[in-house]
Amino acid sequence: MQLSTKHLLGIKDLLPSDISLILSTAQQFKEVLQRPIKKVPSLRDVTIVNLFYENSTRTRISFELAEKRLSADTINFAASASSVSKGETLLDTVNNILSMKVDMVVMRHSASGAPHFLSKHLPDTAIVNAGDGINEHPTQALLDAFSITEKLGTLEGKKILLIGDIMHSRVALSNIYLLTKMGAEVMLSGPPTLMPKYMEAALGVKIEYNLKKALAWCDVANVLRIQLERQNQVLFSSLREYNRAYGVTSKLLSEIDKDIVIMHPGPINRGVEIDSDVADSKNSVILKQVENGVAVRMAVLYLLSGKKELSS
Ligand code: CP
Repeated sequence: MQLSTKHLLGIKDLLPSDISLILSTAQQFKEVLQRPIKKVPSLRDVTIVNLFYENSTRTRISFELAEKRLSADTINFAASASSVSKGETLLDTVNNILSMKVDMVVMRHSASGAPHFLSKHLPDTAIVNAGDGINEHPTQALLDAFSITEKLGTLEGKKILLIGDIMHSRVALSNIYLLTKMGAEVMLSGPPTLMPKYMEAALGVKIEYNLKKALAWCDVANVLRIQLERQNQVLFSSLREYNRAYGVTSKLLSEIDKDIVIMHPGPINRGVEIDSDVADSKNSVILKQVENGVAVRMAVLYLLSGKKELSS
């Protein structure tokens, strides 16, 4: 089985069969990661550069660990410590790195579309989008889907709620594409000023501004951070007001008579979009999401490499 695409630029470009293939391959790699020796030779002769033009904790470490578990050679590039500060363009930077015989590029960038731009200029090098501006974060949506499936058995027919700053969230957009392709129902909740109205009609999702009603509807609540770094105007009154209207608190959850799976892509702003006791509760799979990210990224890198032997 092969993916229908040479790059992973976004979930928008994937077929449901691609998503199923990535998730089933990730399940095999999750089993590898539970062995005493958590390493396979699948990408032994492959060199991968992790090109991070924007800060990251989980995604950068997770990709690097996935590459090491697959026996790939890895190079880590942080734009802040590079010749980008001397005026070098993205394309020149990448062409210089590729001239040293690098096979794949994992890239995070604050500009939406940066990995798409690269893929047009470098059609023969597999590009993996690790988050581009407010556009997509495909491996986050894949690891979220893997974590939901692990907890609930399937995505089909499940009711998934995304809460918060939908407008600036690449995690939200990738999740919406993935969940609707895989037969889940999706609802969005958050302040009207952070809610793109086109989504309801264009992407087949529901919008519910009353958080308590939205929580009563869902099986899974995926809580999103307010992306203050991407907002160039005041879109809500204060963080305290935001917490009152859209913070997921144990008080609010106790008023709803059902168990809801709690997710968050991280980093968490405790006491703003989610209270600590909810983030750390028995229904939270937040750290499981991070754990599953390694297996999911191993699956993505392995499938894009075109290698045939999964493990030994
Ligand atoms: N979820 C996520 O993308 O986290 P980082 O920004 O730390 O990579």
